[in-house]
Amino acid sequence: MALHLGAQYILEHNVGISDAVLLHPLTEEAFIENIKKRFSHEQIYTYIGTVVVSVNPYKKLPLYTPEVIEEYRSRNIYELPPHIYAISDEAYRSMRDRNLDQCIIISGESGAGKTEASKVIMQYVAQVSGKGREIDRVKEQLLQSNPVLEAFGNAKTLRNDNSSRFGKYMDIEFDFKGDPIGGVITNYLLEKSRVASQIPGERNFHIFYQLLAGADPTFLETLKLSPKPENYGFLNRSGCIKVDAIDDAKDFNMVKTGMEVIGFYRTEITEVFQLVASVLKLGNVEFSHRSNADGTDGCDISNTGEIAEVAQLLGCLEQNLTNALTQRTVEVKRDKVKTDFSVAGAVYARDALCKAIYSRLFSWLVQRINDSIKVKTEQTRKVMGVLDIYGFEVFQTNRYEQFIINYCNEKLQQIFIELTLKEEQEEYIREGIEWIHVDYFNNAVICDLIEKNNVGILALLDEQCLLPGNVTDKTFLEKLNQTCKDHPHFESRTLKKNQSDRTLPHDAFRLKHYAGNVTYKVDGFIDKNNDLLYRDLSQAMYACRHNLMKKLFPEGNPSQKSLKRPPTAGSQFKASVQELMKNLLSKNPNYIRCIKPNDDKQSGTLDLEIVKHQVRYLGLMENIRVKRAGYAYRQIYAQFLYRYKMLADETWPSWHGDVVEGVKLILANQKIQQDEIAFGKSKLFIRNPKTLFDLEETRRERMHFLATLIQKVWKGHVKREHFLLMKRSQVVISSRFRGFYGQKQYKKKKAATLLLQCCTRRWKARKLLAELKHAKRMEWAARVIHKYYLGWKVRKNYKPKFRRIAGPKVARFMVVALKRKFLLNVRDKLPSLSPVDNKWPSSPKMYKSASDQLQVMHHKWRCRKYRRKLSEAQKYTLREKATASDIFKDKKVIYPESVPRPFKGDYLNIRGDMKWKKIHSLTNDINLVFADLVHKVNRANGKIVQQLLVVSSQAFLVIDHRTMTLKYRIPIEFIEKISLSPFQDKLAVFHMKKPENGDRFAKKGDFIIGNEHIIEIVTKSSLCVKNKTNTMPEISISPQCSGQFGSSAVQVSFQQGAKGLEPGIPGVKVTRKKHLMLISEP
Ligand SMILES: Nc1ncnc2c1ncn2[C@@H]1O[C@H](COP(=O)(O)OP(=O)(O)O)[C@@H](O)[C@H]1O
Ligand SMILES: [Mg+2]
Repeated sequence: MALHLGAQYILEHNVGISDAVLLHPLTEEAFIENIKKRFSHEQIYTYIGTVVVSVNPYKKLPLYTPEVIEEYRSRNIYELPPHIYAISDEAYRSMRDRNLDQCIIISGESGAGKTEASKVIMQYVAQVSGKGREIDRVKEQLLQSNPVLEAFGNAKTLRNDNSSRFGKYMDIEFDFKGDPIGGVITNYLLEKSRVASQIPGERNFHIFYQLLAGADPTFLETLKLSPKPENYGFLNRSGCIKVDAIDDAKDFNMVKTGMEVIGFYRTEITEVFQLVASVLKLGNVEFSHRSNADGTDGCDISNTGEIAEVAQLLGCLEQNLTNALTQRTVEVKRDKVKTDFSVAGAVYARDALCKAIYSRLFSWLVQRINDSIKVKTEQTRKVMGVLDIYGFEVFQTNRYEQFIINYCNEKLQQIFIELTLKEEQEEYIREGIEWIHVDYFNNAVICDLIEKNNVGILALLDEQCLLPGNVTDKTFLEKLNQTCKDHPHFESRTLKKNQSDRTLPHDAFRLKHYAGNVTYKVDGFIDKNNDLLYRDLSQAMYACRHNLMKKLFPEGNPSQKSLKRPPTAGSQFKASVQELMKNLLSKNPNYIRCIKPNDDKQSGTLDLEIVKHQVRYLGLMENIRVKRAGYAYRQIYAQFLYRYKMLADETWPSWHGDVVEGVKLILANQKIQQDEIAFGKSKLFIRNPKTLFDLEETRRERMHFLATLIQKVWKGHVKREHFLLMKRSQVVISSRFRGFYGQKQYKKKKAATLLLQCCTRRWKARKLLAELKHAKRMEWAARVIHKYYLGWKVRKNYKPKFRRIAGPKVARFMVVALKRKFLLNVRDKLPSLSPVDNKWPSSPKMYKSASDQLQVMHHKWRCRKYRRKLSEAQKYTLREKATASDIFKDKKVIYPESVPRPFKGDYLNIRGDMKWKKIHSLTNDINLVFADLVHKVNRANGKIVQQLLVVSSQAFLVIDHRTMTLKYRIPIEFIEKISLSPFQDKLAVFHMKKPENGDRFAKKGDFIIGNEHIIEIVTKSSLCVKNKTNTMPEISISPQCSGQFGSSAVQVSFQQGAKGLEPGIPGVKVTRKKHLMLISEP
């Protein structure tokens, strides 16, 4: 078997006898010699059966590596050299596999290595149990609880640099697989007197030094601390501050990370250190004496700065704190009276407060850790408890604390005796096994001396504490002397038997403990047992705003009036120890017995006397003897049968016969020798562990085989089930598939059939159609042939006649038809009735002239129709316009612009004019045709003057437009001719008839007038002439004309292109040169 280095080291160097049961000769000397020999070879562990005896090596040995753990893991206890790992493994496996709750009781003196051993156990359990995030978190929290609790609960003592000043029992809880899921820590009585004072050479609790050395300066500043321990009264008085083996700064960081890992909130961590700082600072508070007026003593705080800072840290009023520290309230006949403390009283109160704060803080820490590590799920748990309680202590002066600690150790020793010596021997007798009694010292008598109801020391102490009046430690001692004087383990100077013993002071008593005599000074017993804090102090603490402080002093709540006395420290401790004993007894115990090799913490030296003393009081020899004579293993028959029933064919898988018979069958089957076993009344005893290990080994192999068998059957079953399931599934799947496939095929076939059917039908139909068509064609062809034939026959018969008669008829008919078609086309596509619409339907060439004529006719017809629709006035206007067109179209340049302008006639609106009315009443020219201002050309010199011209149906009237007086009137019939130029000008020459009978108008001759509306004037006047005379006057349009001005004939000539003239009238220049009148225009 390949052993790892660590284990190999142990094996190769095995010296002496590793299990003391095998010692020969079995004497105390030989046992101690064996231990010494092994110790000198660094083999610190030795077995007594399954009990591990451990000697503190005071130096690091290569025994605790993960590799060594691997070696010890799941191996039987005797396969490898003795080790704590071996019994840890035994306990762990028995818990996991046999479902037995375990406890490991570690006992020994202070400094013997108990705490180290407990850590080794935890390390082992952490490594061998399962892995996983949650499990690792739990493990880490459990492991980290150690440095935190050690910092607050351990201190350097003369015996041990890291002495536990509290008792600790830790239940690690596991699930059914053996994985840790949480834990519960129980703490026992912290030695709080250490907070205020330590004996020379010892230190206060580690945390004070760690905080000062390890916290960073700013944090210390917020805590109002200086980094020097020398500055603090609670630290500087014992003369020991630094310990070589301890690195306080490093430890502080470990504590902080530990707290974080466990799950302390940041604020909680700060609050904890605030309290630690407050304790340190309160320790520095000093008092000065003051004599009161009433003659009593009083005191003042001499360094108030310190108090102010504490008040700030705790969030309370400085005055409240000062009052609480210097005064107390006393109830006198239901009145509350404040009395001052003397200096000593104040110091006492101060120290009591500090101790209370610190010890309550410690309990709170344990509680807080428990909150974090407790199992959060509801499940069945298995438990492994580790008990590491303060060891037996003997100092120069021993006080109340030592009394309590040693009482606890007595109880542990008793449990050991009960289970390993007494119970075991009694069991042999009970079971009827042949047995020679092994004598041992039973410490029950000492336990009784301390704890017995009514007469035990604790009871007497409680009684004294409850007595009214003046009770002192002295009266307590007297009471002890009285009650216990006959007890063999109690000694006191006043007793007769000890009167001459000078080593025993008068103020002390001595107890003969199982581990030696211890002298206890009674000084302080009453006080410490009472463990009372002045109400003023607890109220002041409760009044603080500091969260944690408030929680620690719930009794300070003023509304909580209950003044019931709390149980004394002693009775509390007794109760908790009894609870612990009950707990331990309910579990399967495993022991580690620690031995201290010397008193000087020296490695490599083993003081025989010191070791012998321990071996004796630990009862190790008796232990060996009982083990040696007895049987290593016992088991109730039924349980044995249940566990090993697979080792015989008859008992496997179940045995229905007598249980002992079944057990015997198994043993016979395994060929176990008769002297190896004994049959008790209810249990089977096996002498050698080896026999049991062989049984276990065979069982393991058998289990292996059975497991394989079960596995095989199970796997076969699972596979078969799986196969059947697959088969069923396959049937379902294939049936579904076939159904689906068939359906698909069917659909395909159906579609194909339909297609074929429809093709055939189509083909048939086509065929029929072709036949029908053929028949029809044949019929048609027959008819055509018949027709042609008939035609041919007719033509043959009638051809001569046809040419003569039918030919012309047909031609005529054709012509008529064509004409008809043409006319109908014209009728259908006639244009609109608007005279200006010149659309006309097209026509064949041969009817072109007919079409033109028809168009003209149509146009005329629609014009007439249009005209008919007109009124008389409209007709007249049209006639005027038509006349103007006849006269001027294409002759006069200005004609086109006059076309769109209507002929208004009366441009000046004089028809209503009174003066005009007067004129026409005289001349009878009622029918006014035109009236406007005109330019009249002077015939003599060509000058132009403006006159009003009125044309009536009867005459021309020239009127002075200013005075409206008629200048002259020319009857219309006198106008013979009118001349105009073709040019731009708007002038007209009106020619008069030759004077007859001396007509006065005619004598004046022709006249020239110009007007914007000259076209209108000419047109209207010529129409008037025609109306009067039935003949149109002659109208000449040419650049020249000859006129008669009076008696002289004048040539009027129009000239175009004159420069510098404005266009229009008077844009003309008229000049007369004898017989020539020149009219120039631009
Ligand atoms: N197995 C060990 N290996 C090395 N040193 C040990 C061992 N056990 C104890 N020690 C030393 O002895 C000191 C005291 O041990 P500790 O367990 O604190 O004693 P106890 O708890 O019994 O008072 C430890 O600080 C350590 O230095
Ligand atoms: Mg310890």
